[in-house]
Amino acid sequence: MNSRLNQPVFWRFLTVWVGLIGLTLIALVGGLRQEAKGQVEPTKPLPKVYFGSQACASAGCHEKGQVANPPLLCRGDEYDRFKAHDRHGNAYKALIGELGLSMLKRLKLGEPQKAKACLACHSVNIEKEAIQHETFQIAEGVGCVVCHGAHEKWVGAHSLVLSRASFRVLSRDKKENEFGMTDLWDPAKRTALCASCHIGNHADGKFVTHEMYAAGHPILPGFEVATFSEQMPRHWQLMREKVPGVQKIQGYLGHEWEESQLLLVGSAVALRESMRLLAKQAEYASLKGEMLDWALLDCFSCHHDLQLPSWRQEQVRLGKPGRVPPKNWPMTLAEVAGEWVQIKDAVGPLKRDLFEATLSRPFGDTLKVTQAASRLATWADRVAMDLASKPLNTTTGPKLGEHLLKLGLSQPVDFDSARQAGWALTLYRNEERALIGVKRPQWDSLLMETNNRLALQLPFGRATNPSERNKEILAKQYAFEPLAFLRWMQNAPNAWKD
Ligand code: HEC
Ligand code: HEC
Ligand code: HEC
Ligand code: HEC
Repeated sequence: MNSRLNQPVFWRFLTVWVGLIGLTLIALVGGLRQEAKGQVEPTKPLPKVYFGSQACASAGCHEKGQVANPPLLCRGDEYDRFKAHDRHGNAYKALIGELGLSMLKRLKLGEPQKAKACLACHSVNIEKEAIQHETFQIAEGVGCVVCHGAHEKWVGAHSLVLSRASFRVLSRDKKENEFGMTDLWDPAKRTALCASCHIGNHADGKFVTHEMYAAGHPILPGFEVATFSEQMPRHWQLMREKVPGVQKIQGYLGHEWEESQLLLVGSAVALRESMRLLAKQAEYASLKGEMLDWALLDCFSCHHDLQLPSWRQEQVRLGKPGRVPPKNWPMTLAEVAGEWVQIKDAVGPLKRDLFEATLSRPFGDTLKVTQAASRLATWADRVAMDLASKPLNTTTGPKLGEHLLKLGLSQPVDFDSARQAGWALTLYRNEERALIGVKRPQWDSLLMETNNRLALQLPFGRATNPSERNKEILAKQYAFEPLAFLRWMQNAPNAWKD
């Protein structure tokens, strides 16, 4: 009886040891052998090795909390959180569900496990020369190493008893450049990674085409990295949540506005990535003499019911009435972020060029779109670097809220752009409350109403059916009227005064 009761503990320790021995071997064959010979060559790309999520969990490391002596940098229960809630682990299942299979059929893409156009975002397209570790399974969808880095060198070095203490204190740059562990703390790097799937990336072959939408793909919502990170939901702790011992190792100064900083840098990087995708797709279309893929334009300019009179006719827009503009949301937050660091050359003319290039001819002048989008991408990159070099601090942080109010309060914007404002203000407000405890009862109640109008919560958790949530969001999107929303934002009693 007793021994049976003890079995799970026994098995757990056995797996810990088997896991650790396995990882020791990995490290011996891989990274550390090079280390010993002093052959670290950061310029040479590290070989790709795809581990399955089990490799991170089964050594007793990222499952069921910490087994080693604290302070470790993390809580050690990331796999459990991921498995219970994170939709990334469902991403491959989406392809073999009813909707996914019917899409594959309509698009004539064949078997899900070979549909590269989908796997790029719903799992991973393994490079020819890459090694698949025995734990790897395509069915795990977007697994740990897709985000954290598919390289054995860091996987071995950070977990091995012999090397992990010295690995822990290395700089993030070293961990990334010499060991291949992606630096996801860095706001710009994190956003670029998330955006590659949530916006699209030409070089990686990640793009939801209009054809895919027409075959049934849910509409990709506008992206805001800090909110999306919260809503994954987060399997990691923010710096301010960590125990003091870890804060010390990580050089935390206290009262850092880390999420608002991520919001600002992320907004510029999201614009950059959107514009790079648009520029590349436009270039491609122009070479082939085709038109721009409609997925890059504002969906709801084409997809809405005819209404007379309608708010669309009240809008004063560039170009001829009835032409389809590019998506607006990537520009809204980035523009406000650019003003925050007072980037000298204004984004106004660049934005105007892009709208003109898109509206001057039906479905856009692809050559001009390429040029205008590239220039906007360059601008956004500069803003991102500038923001990164001036992190929010105890003086500037508390002032950001008033600045963000420019969003959504000055001109009528579409649903996706209004959501950027709603997400940004909510995120800022939560961090402000946590860090300095300022009370703003008006803001808080207005934000609750904003949440109501804009459906700020994304499809959440593995248990929910995303298509139900997406239907709710879509209904709000169709009912949304920019001018009415603007009037509400401006006229709500004592709006945004406290
Ligand atoms: C650029 C990245 C990208 C590509 C390419 C892509 N998807 Fe998706 N897909 C997503 C994202 C992100 C979501 C989540 C959207 C949301 O609900 O907010 C999603 C959602 C879905 C869903 C609904 C989610 C669920 O759990 O039911 C299905 C089904 C789906 N995709 C199928 C496909 C198929 C089939 C293909 C290939 C034809 C494909 N996707 C290509 C990124 C992509
Ligand atoms: C969609 C991308 C993504 C996936 C998939 C993912 N992570 Fe993460 N993970 C992040 C981000 C972003 C952070 C926060 C930045 C950081 O700590 O590097 C993070 C942080 C962590 C941390 C640090 C925790 C802390 O409190 O500081 C651990 C450990 C971790 N992840 C383990 C895992 C494991 C194990 C898996 C798979 C079961 C996984 N991650 C899957 C994006 C991802
Ligand atoms: C390799 C592609 C990929 C990367 C990288 C990626 N995601 Fe996702 N993400 C997806 C797919 C696909 C889904 C939809 C899965 C489903 O519902 O079946 C998704 C779903 C989500 C969801 C659930 C809500 C929704 O709209 O579906 C959030 C939140 C999210 N991702 C945030 C992030 C963040 C934050 C990062 C970066 C740290 C990130 N993702 C990186 C592909 C990716
Ligand atoms: C330039 C105009 C235009 C733009 C922009 C556009 N579409 Fe379409 N879309 C069409 C046309 C035309 C059809 C085919 C007519 C039909 O099947 O109803 C279509 C068909 C569809 C369909 C299948 C039919 C339906 O109504 O369910 C979906 C879904 C769809 N588009 C989604 C999108 C999404 C999502 C976007 C933005 C990412 C978008 N479209 C952008 C014009 C456009």
